[in-house]
Amino acid sequence: MRIILAPMEGLADVHLRRLITAQGGYDWVVSEFVRVVDRLYPDRVLLKNCPELEQGGRTDSGTPLRVQLLGNHPQAMAANAVRAVELGSFGIDINFGCPSKTVNRSKGGAVLLKEPDTLYSVVRAVREAVPAQVMVSAKMRLGFDDTSLMLENASAIESAGAGELTVHARTRLQGYAPPAHWHELARIKEHITIPLIANGDICSVEDYHRCVAIAGTADVMLGRGAVRLPFLAKQIRANSAPQAQWADVAPLLQHFWQEIGVSMSPKDRVGRIKQWVNYLRQSHSEAETLWVAIRAEKDAQILDSRLHAIVEG
Ligand SMILES: Cc1cc2nc3c(=O)[nH]c(=O)nc-3n(C[C@H](O)[C@H](O)[C@H](O)COP(=O)(O)O)c2cc1C
Repeated sequence: MRIILAPMEGLADVHLRRLITAQGGYDWVVSEFVRVVDRLYPDRVLLKNCPELEQGGRTDSGTPLRVQLLGNHPQAMAANAVRAVELGSFGIDINFGCPSKTVNRSKGGAVLLKEPDTLYSVVRAVREAVPAQVMVSAKMRLGFDDTSLMLENASAIESAGAGELTVHARTRLQGYAPPAHWHELARIKEHITIPLIANGDICSVEDYHRCVAIAGTADVMLGRGAVRLPFLAKQIRANSAPQAQWADVAPLLQHFWQEIGVSMSPKDRVGRIKQWVNYLRQSHSEAETLWVAIRAEKDAQILDSRLHAIVEG
């Protein structure tokens, strides 16, 4: 069993990655995507997206970080991959799943699932450029509009030399709408020999077991479920699912609020805390109360006192 914290651009930034991995249970974490156009970035671009690179490529709790790159230009992807590895990234993950219209228009992310040959060229170039012992993996969806190229895409990624494949069990057309189609993962698993990492809607210990039974792989990537339940990976490993304990989560929320206060503007800080509370309220009724109290609040100081009042009861 391997459990990976998913890349989530604008959500699982360095602060949330630090906090979630500190709860234990994660084998590694994938960075938010770094969009590559046609050249090698200066180091500051990678360091800004992935500050863990300045501390040995690990989160504070020691969880390795794998930089994720998004783009279609094989040479530029390879050059940035080499640099990310030199800076300390534990492997490179390549994004073939992003559904954003802007990103897809510039031929990045899920739109490449229409072109198995391009998937092959990008993975091949990265694989050939980074040292052989460094893991090169890819993350894809089931397809763009449908699953007609799903197996061909998985094969292209494998034959280009990727060592692992994560699949978010939806097409781009399906967006993020439930359900995730785990049974399609079983077809991919049958078709490839590299490890398959299942992703999509694993939000509880029960979901984990159902997904493993259907997809046929014990390796999973947790996204929004980990944001709602920061202890999810540990619970999966312990095979126990106690009621989500607000008493355990509330101090984390307080800690997060203090931490982002150091580096973010008051406006961004307010936006980020609301974003997390919005996820937490899907699993904790206390967070719903907090949400109602803060959702319209723009002032960081007032928000601070509301947070204190509710979090500390
Ligand atoms: C806010 C947000 C940002 C995301 N950003 C990325 C990203 O940068 N790279 C990527 O490969 N997937 C990204 N994803 C997709 C997730 O990694 C994951 O595949 C998807 O959320 C399904 O898994 P889940 O149901 O466990 O959340 C993002 C998802 C969300 C909700």
